[in-house]
Amino acid sequence: MKYTLMHKNLSVAQIEIDEEIGSISKIIEIYHEKHMPVGTVYTMHHETKAQRMALNHWWTGRSIPASRSGIREALDELGVYDTTLLLTHCMGLSLSDHYWIRPTNSDVKWEDVNFFTNDFSDDIGDVLFGAPKKQVGFDYSSPDNTSDGNLKKRWKIIHGKRCLLKDGIKPYRQQPFNELIATKIMERLGIYHVPYTIIWEDGKPYSMCEDFVTTETELVSAWRMTQLRPKANHENTYLHFVNICMESGVPDVTAALDRMLVLDYLIANEDRHMNNFGLLRNADTLEWIGFAPIFDSGTSLGYNTDAAQLGSYDAVCKPFKKTHGEQLRLVSDFSWIDFAKLDGIEDEIRELLSDERVPEWIDEKRKNAIIAGITNRIHQLQTIAMAHTSRQDFSSQEDDVEEDIAEDYGMEFE
Ligand SMILES: Nc1ncnc2c1ncn2[C@@H]1O[C@H](COP(=O)(O)OP(=O)(O)OP(=O)(O)O)[C@@H](O)[C@H]1O
Ligand SMILES: [Mg+2]
Repeated sequence: MKYTLMHKNLSVAQIEIDEEIGSISKIIEIYHEKHMPVGTVYTMHHETKAQRMALNHWWTGRSIPASRSGIREALDELGVYDTTLLLTHCMGLSLSDHYWIRPTNSDVKWEDVNFFTNDFSDDIGDVLFGAPKKQVGFDYSSPDNTSDGNLKKRWKIIHGKRCLLKDGIKPYRQQPFNELIATKIMERLGIYHVPYTIIWEDGKPYSMCEDFVTTETELVSAWRMTQLRPKANHENTYLHFVNICMESGVPDVTAALDRMLVLDYLIANEDRHMNNFGLLRNADTLEWIGFAPIFDSGTSLGYNTDAAQLGSYDAVCKPFKKTHGEQLRLVSDFSWIDFAKLDGIEDEIRELLSDERVPEWIDEKRKNAIIAGITNRIHQLQTIAMAHTSRQDFSSQEDDVEEDIAEDYGMEFE
């Protein structure tokens, strides 16, 4: 079936979607090349082309990943074979950007369908969270069809605000608590971030954050930026991204990356892959605003490591280097860190984890080990920051992360 790929009310391209397999079978015409999704238009032999493969990758990448916790059961319940088939049910609308698809014979407007200002159904979210499919009047229109990430999650309108609720994984369900701890650290250090809180449902903790994208702005992931051009031989993963941002005129990326890498060191983040950070741009003018607020910091603090090993385990590191020590060497400036602001963070974390429902998931031993790990890394960071005098060599390719792979929690944790 033919659709117009839309960016708000702008017709960007005419495409054909094969409804049976949920993919783009043809790019018929491009109307506004600059508004094509970032990284889907290439210049080859001095000719600019939209690649169906790249556009299709972008389109299918909008669907819920096959590795999402609990997705098989949800699809069985819905009677749908693959998550890509859900995309057309909600016109591809999302709460992270302003792209959508409109049947070519329709003249429906962005104002009438977008999820930022129009309500959406809870039906898909309910099924994703394990409820049976409503037999009558099931409504597919939900941004849950286009949400990324491996953790069980759903969007909900709470007191008029679009909020993302995210589960953790067993046995500790630590991710929601980690989001809260990361929020406090960033609050204290003045790092631009998405604030997370915890809500409890049936004795289980969920992290909750508000949509940071607005009707004017949109998120472009770091991954999409790296699709703008291949990595040059002299570039490591870090410089590939930084250089592309500079070439595109994105302001203040190095300073923002410094802050993200410092946070990730402090929380021993294991999953800062290239879709877990990104940039904000104005969706109308396409002007770059800068680095997006830091989100998704939950897969950290030894989230799945036994408490006895929390003092000595090797935390995986992404997106640039394979070890946190190496990755910290990419930080160009530590002078913004006011270590005094971290005084008393241990007590604050203890307070955050004082709810009587916490010990079912995180017992005292685990809590102490998490806090001790943070204290330890604050001290190490302080030593490293004090020793840092001049700019390091950012171009080393040693210990570079070659592949961008999200943490896959697998079936065993469900
Ligand atoms: N507050 C928000 N506002 C707008 N978009 C968001 C927000 N939080 C997350 N997103 C988008 O939703 C995606 C999935 O969210 P998130 O990364 O938090 O999930 P996750 O399951 O923890 O991911 P992962 O698989 O990386 O662990 C993000 O990559 C981002 O594109
Ligand atoms: Mg994520």
